[in-house]
Amino acid sequence: MELADLTPGSGRLAPRAALHSDAPALDLNGAWRFRLSPTAHAPADFADPGYDDSGWDDLPVPSHWPLHGHGAPAYTNVVYPFPVDPPHVPSDNPTGDYRRAFDLPAGWNGGRLRFEGVDSFARVWLNGHELGCTTGSRLPVEFDAGPHLRPGRNVLAVRVHQWSAASYLEDQDMWWLPGIFRDVTLTRSTADVFVRASYADGRGTLSFDADGGRLSLPELGIDGLEPGTPVTVDVEPWSADTPRLYDAVVAFPGESVRLRVGFRTISIENGVLLANGRPLLLKGVNRHEFHPLHGRAVPLATMREDVLLMKRHNVNAVRTSHYPPHPAFLDLCDELGLWVIDECDLETHGFEKTGWRRNPTDDPRWAEALLDRMRRMVERDKNHPSVIMWSLGNESGTGRNLAVMADWTRERDPSRPLHYEGDRSCAHTDVYSRMYASHAEVEAIGRGTEEPLPDPELDARRRAMPFLQCEYAHAMGLGPGGLAEYQELFERYPRLAGGFVWEWIDHGLAHPALGHAYGGDYGEPLHDGNFVIDGLVFPDRTPSPGLLDLKKVFEPVRFTFGDGTVRVSNPHEHRDLAHLAFTATVEAEGEPVTAHALDVPADGGEVKLPEPPAGEGERWLTVRAVLAADEPWAEAGHEVAWGQVRLPAPAATPAAASATQSPATGALGATPAPASAPAPAPAPALARDAAGIVLGGGRFDTATGRLAGLFGLDVEGPRLELWRAPTDNDRYGRLAAAWRDLGLHRLTHRVDAVEEDGGGLTVLTRVAPAATDLGLRAAYRWTAAGDALELTVEVVPEGDWTVPLPRLGVVMALPAAVGNVTWFGRGPGEAYPDTGMAARVGRWSATVEELQTPYVYPQENGHRAGVRWAELTGDDGRGVRVTGDPEFGLTVRRWTTAELERASHRPDLVPGDRVHVNLDHAQHGIGTASCGPGTLPAYELRAAPATFRLRFAPA
Ligand code: GAL
Repeated sequence: MELADLTPGSGRLAPRAALHSDAPALDLNGAWRFRLSPTAHAPADFADPGYDDSGWDDLPVPSHWPLHGHGAPAYTNVVYPFPVDPPHVPSDNPTGDYRRAFDLPAGWNGGRLRFEGVDSFARVWLNGHELGCTTGSRLPVEFDAGPHLRPGRNVLAVRVHQWSAASYLEDQDMWWLPGIFRDVTLTRSTADVFVRASYADGRGTLSFDADGGRLSLPELGIDGLEPGTPVTVDVEPWSADTPRLYDAVVAFPGESVRLRVGFRTISIENGVLLANGRPLLLKGVNRHEFHPLHGRAVPLATMREDVLLMKRHNVNAVRTSHYPPHPAFLDLCDELGLWVIDECDLETHGFEKTGWRRNPTDDPRWAEALLDRMRRMVERDKNHPSVIMWSLGNESGTGRNLAVMADWTRERDPSRPLHYEGDRSCAHTDVYSRMYASHAEVEAIGRGTEEPLPDPELDARRRAMPFLQCEYAHAMGLGPGGLAEYQELFERYPRLAGGFVWEWIDHGLAHPALGHAYGGDYGEPLHDGNFVIDGLVFPDRTPSPGLLDLKKVFEPVRFTFGDGTVRVSNPHEHRDLAHLAFTATVEAEGEPVTAHALDVPADGGEVKLPEPPAGEGERWLTVRAVLAADEPWAEAGHEVAWGQVRLPAPAATPAAASATQSPATGALGATPAPASAPAPAPAPALARDAAGIVLGGGRFDTATGRLAGLFGLDVEGPRLELWRAPTDNDRYGRLAAAWRDLGLHRLTHRVDAVEEDGGGLTVLTRVAPAATDLGLRAAYRWTAAGDALELTVEVVPEGDWTVPLPRLGVVMALPAAVGNVTWFGRGPGEAYPDTGMAARVGRWSATVEELQTPYVYPQENGHRAGVRWAELTGDDGRGVRVTGDPEFGLTVRRWTTAELERASHRPDLVPGDRVHVNLDHAQHGIGTASCGPGTLPAYELRAAPATFRLRFAPA
């Protein structure tokens, strides 16, 4: 078989299920001998058992050779990194030759060589005999080793080519990483089993297909069940919320296989996706297999970590974008509970660039290759209760081979709906799926008022389907914005079955100089830059603020506050509330006042809140739902959900305020109190001396009116700021370009007057970029109250502003010694107008370093919202207390916005000799325009007259 052959392989055995068998198996992972050649044509004499490989290197299996010093990784999103001329492949074709000797235990005979994943084309020899070839990188393959095994020492040789015709089928948005990257075993298992376990009304029906074998499931009293003979018994259902598994064994004459059976039924009724007869709301993420050191050779412990992290963040579903994961990952989904869309290893997206000409999806010569991929996925994964849908692949255009794949799958497994997003007509699917549809489009689909298809029959078919967003809320860099609004729609319309955020993890490869590498960092001539850095967790799997927001939005419990009560509900779950413990705490100015346990019935309902005690300052009541006992995925006490409501001042009614915490807006603290301003001291006269103007604890430059000293600290004065270091959404959504065209990153500040004004100081300025007549009048009015200074900023735009502003606020610089921040406001994490649902009102402390969110590609980050007051101090406790009227947004960094913007990797950010503080009146929203809709209109920051006030006092 040649590299440009369209057939998927030769010499391979029929695909079968991934099974836990007691048949003898030899683990062939470990150190193999390895040699890399630049082309496919190095002599194949290395397959000879006597070949001398002493000059070769060692390479671990599983692994990718570019991550072990042989060649380099390369990243492209849509485009092929080679000419689009199927089925031809480049002559420059990195080719890895692998050798491994192993000793056969005494008495061993027969067996299969099983490769769980080889990227991308492998030719396999055992003791010099060619066993065959295979393609389909993320799919298992078995060869019959029996005839060529010999007692004692055996030599296995594998040649892996990076490029083959099959590469045209593997254009997923990820690093190109060749190698034997999943396990290799020699197994004597030959069994195949297809268990079918459905659930309805408290009863489970179990049957299985196999060539012989008897099934026992002792817990249900099933003993010696024969293939094809269904039995119905009382069972508990499997769901992601309650992943109930029953241990079964299928005994064959030569081996026994262990299975974990979950009873569950997926169905579609009246256009609604149901699990076990109840509506199913998918709160999902798209997961690529990725590890910053190992690429797609993900260690088992890391797979478990992924599932635990998902569960702990209220994620209940995963789409295995865009290929079947390592089989052990699905075992974990069964065990810990995640609904899975298992996706075929197929993407031909690069053909879009050439008008989909010669797309394999529509060329009958490729039918066998595509069907082979589907078959190998379905056969491998058919026994997993977690797998609820099969996906034909991703972004592969349309065409007749989709029908070939779909028809075979329906026949083989009618129990699971079919998914494919790339064909809007849904001719071959059972669900309607889109990616990055706007909120408006999702709402129209929810209502059933979407644009009709030209073909009325297909239109009627599609209109009767449930809808899901297989990708939405592109989590690239800061964001995603708009999560809460999507969830509100998913929960409102029964046709909407939820969706899968793009994507789980940043694919940043660990790099000694750059921290984490992305496209272009290995000198690739063609690449897609940081588009591979778009995850909810950072490359080291630290949750990003986006994941914390998603956890809030996905909460399985809702709190609606009433008059002294809270309504607790969980309308969309497959489990009641009995496993949760509830508390209500009251804080005044962020300091704890009281804490009570709440008695919440298992079915939820209206619960009376404790009488709030009297207390000074702004008071908030927080209700929390935590795990009452350990779960397999988190310990007792793990917080699952929370809600917060502001209490009225004690003088008013003692009951809780009437307010609702809406998941749609996450609008916590929408009505904060004005900052408590002490009675004004007699205004001191403004004085002038050689050092400048003195007012209260401030010293101002005489010519510019800018603050230069504050309470004995050297400062550079607050002045108007409109710019932010563009986010990925700003950049890829082209808003940043519009801002830059306007010159918002190079504002000039013209001082028109520095005036003494009723004992205060007024500085009149016009702030504008060069080369435009657009600008803003900005007046700074300073007054003193004792040492404290009060600043009122009045801004009036001039000219026709057609683009939103990045931000509106002031920026100032403090000495580098000011390294600690304590604030009362929303926290502890960052929040922007359409993000930050995870941020609650409280009193928080962090160092300046801790306030930075470490986005792999540096950009705006770390803004704390709804800040009532903040103290910025050095280790000696000296510093500044800033109070809002009523609140402001706070960002504190050791570099300027310009430096942040210039950086392309985190090591570029070097602390300077100042701490730079942004005090914002408002910011423009974040949106998801890097891929998908931009900021919703409600979160746009339009140029308009504005007045905001800040008070500065010694800390
Ligand atoms: C989608 C695609 C994903 C990813 C995303 C952008 O079109 O399916 O694989 O490329 O866009 O990050």
